[in-house]
Amino acid sequence: MKKFYVTTPIFYPSGKPHLGHAFSALYASLLAEYKRLLGYDVYFATGTDEHGQKIEETAKSKNITPQELVDNNSDVFKKLWNKMGIRYDYFIRTTNSCHKKAVQETFDFLLKKGFIYLGNWRGLYCISCEENYTENSAIKKDSEFFCEHGHKLVSKNEESYFLKIKSFNEWIINMLSNNKDFIYPHNRSKELINNFLSDGKLEDLSITRTTFEWGIKTLVNSKHVIYVWLDALLNYITLLGYKSDDDSNFKKYWISDDCEKVHLIGKEITRFHCIYWPIILKMLDLPLPNKIISHGWIITNTGKMSKSLGNVIDPTDIIDNYGKDAFRYFLAKEISIKDDSVYSDDKFITTFNTDLANNYGNLINRTIGMLKKYNNNIVPKYNGPITYNDFLIVKTQNEFLSKAKELIDDLNIKDLIDLICDFENKINNYIEQSKPWDFLKNNMKQNLDSFLSILVNLIRTTIAFLKPILIDATELAIQQLNFDKEILLIDSLKDFSKVDNITVNEAKPIFVRISQ
Ligand code: ME8
Ligand code: MG
Repeated sequence: MKKFYVTTPIFYPSGKPHLGHAFSALYASLLAEYKRLLGYDVYFATGTDEHGQKIEETAKSKNITPQELVDNNSDVFKKLWNKMGIRYDYFIRTTNSCHKKAVQETFDFLLKKGFIYLGNWRGLYCISCEENYTENSAIKKDSEFFCEHGHKLVSKNEESYFLKIKSFNEWIINMLSNNKDFIYPHNRSKELINNFLSDGKLEDLSITRTTFEWGIKTLVNSKHVIYVWLDALLNYITLLGYKSDDDSNFKKYWISDDCEKVHLIGKEITRFHCIYWPIILKMLDLPLPNKIISHGWIITNTGKMSKSLGNVIDPTDIIDNYGKDAFRYFLAKEISIKDDSVYSDDKFITTFNTDLANNYGNLINRTIGMLKKYNNNIVPKYNGPITYNDFLIVKTQNEFLSKAKELIDDLNIKDLIDLICDFENKINNYIEQSKPWDFLKNNMKQNLDSFLSILVNLIRTTIAFLKPILIDATELAIQQLNFDKEILLIDSLKDFSKVDNITVNEAKPIFVRISQ
């Protein structure tokens, strides 16, 4: 069995999750669910990134300890994932003791191998992004410095341990250039090389701090707290048991060649995942991930969501209003990977009405309605294809199945959803062109049976391929159609006799149109 390991970024629990976090977690979980659908052995992890100066400062401003802050907020993330129907195999918290121990040992190992040295760090720091800047890489405005996301930078001058990444400048350029599929979308790779790597631009990375407390202390010198990004990136392997007593998952999902390893992230942290992380792994003599999918941002009409702009969209409101399936479907379909996407309630409602109420829901409703009207609620025994339209649509379904599997293998859920929508349109056309009401009028019972049986099978395929996204709707649909769960398995979809003689139940609307 082929294996698949996929992760989300681990989120800073300095505040509540917003729509952007929800999208990342959902999309990564869908990669996992779709690979499961094809029968892969899947491991899906998410979690919270609980150290760093920002957490420390936020806790102070709320008059609680950092531990209290992260305990409360990581729970809020878990609750939201639960409310969204996101199933994960592991939720890592970087304050857990196994992770901390593994990070300390990794630091020590790199120190002993000569990849870490003690020096002095002078530079600018973005507390919000937990990111180093120099006067050259920062944006200067009225003698103050800002990061690329507009946060004000503080200057630092302190003793620090450094990671010797400069000597990997050529190596990482070559890795990125020779491995075109490493970053998706591909154009982010060129940007990365131009902005941070060309002309030997890469500088050694300061990886410890002495001016705050909330982090993992180095074993060599307890004054030094490990930089939150080194701590955070290592989560992807510590959660699998790297440097722990039980590293069987690490061997299975990271070391083994037959496991595809994918990190899904937002575009602003591409540098950390596509430059620093591969270099760290190289220093540790470990395999690299196969792919980093770096998605665009969800923005609002007033720009990127941010607490300071007060335009943050709370996912719980949308779920409470429209249900988790509609929320999952909207994010999966409408939020782009390549570009930024604007969220608006109007767009949400249009997608809901067009795709879920009019297409998916209505198709199921119509199908059950025709079974009731023409055949006493019973799915006729499969005897087709008979008509030209039957032949055509059976061929269409076969093409759909192979294309859909290809897209899942390519991790292209966006195109998959478009393909499903297109398939639904073709099913609607099949109904219009077959004119079952004429079969009835003209007493063409065989044709009518063939039509009804094929239609139920087409609907079954649609339900099967949307099952990873639509949780409650799938339950309702299979209850109404009286399907066993096994007949939604992908390998069974080609066998049209699987639905022979099923007596369907009463049709009830699955998605009720929202008036605009
Ligand atoms: O960066 N649109 O955590 P973070 C889409 N802890 N996605 C968004 C978004 C938006 N407007 N805003 C945030 C960190 N995200 C580090 C990561 S990983 C080893 C450490 C999503 O809480 C997106 O995936 O700032 C982004 O990368 C992530 O949330 C950042 O979350
Ligand atoms: Mg961020």
